Amino acid sequence: MLGPLPPETEQRSLRPLYELKTEVAEDRHEVEALYDTCFAPGREALSSYRLRDGVPPVAGLSLIARDAQGVLGGAIRYWPVQISAAAALLLGPVAVHPTRQGEGLGAMLIKVSLDHALDLGWERVMLVGDAPYYGRFGFARLVQVSMPPPTNPERVLGRALRAGAWDGIKGDVMRAVD
Ligand SMILES: CC(C)(COP(=O)(O)OP(=O)(O)OC[C@H]1O[C@@H](n2cnc3c(N)ncnc32)[C@H](O)[C@@H]1OP(=O)(O)O)[C@@H](O)C(=O)NCCC(=O)NCCS
Repeated sequence: MLGPLPPETEQRSLRPLYELKTEVAEDRHEVEALYDTCFAPGREALSSYRLRDGVPPVAGLSLIARDAQGVLGGAIRYWPVQISAAAALLLGPVAVHPTRQGEGLGAMLIKVSLDHALDLGWERVMLVGDAPYYGRFGFARLVQVSMPPPTNPERVLGRALRAGAWDGIKGDVMRAVD
């Protein structure tokens, strides 16, 4: 089932190698297996997962990429978080199967989902990750924003989807509340 992706996303999904779709319940076990393949054991012990406990991912923003045979090549999910009263997206996990890495699939998943996030009205996004990789998508250190310990502050990165959206926002990242 194709979720509410904007028209330009559907055009991009017609790229010959991969089709991007929104993740649905039927995809869940395959996506979990992909994450288990791509991340070290115990990934769910990471502090970022505490922000996800009991909170559903953002509807319509988690994407999967399947090849022409339907094989899952990559996936990305997003959760809502809060810094004081400010809402933000927590990007991740994002993963590409080891046999498909280096083809640009990770970049496609990130760029398409960030465009879609803006269309959905989100203003700012953050993640815990490698600056050398995420810098190419406009992410930079969020020096005034703290993730739950133990998190290396140098890996706390953010990107404003609207200009200035991170200005003046500081404090601890918390689970989103209704
Ligand atoms: C990170 C990941 C999603 C990238 O997906 P991908 O499809 O291979 O990425 P792309 O093809 O778009 O980009 C590949 C480029 O990113 C670089 N890159 C990949 N991971 C990197 C990292 N952690 N730090 C710096 N550069 C990285 C590659 O060296 C390559 O560089 P090049 O363009 O100069 O050749 C994928 O490598 C992956 O699933 N890794 C394991 C899980 C993971 O670490 N997820 C991210 C959590 S922070």
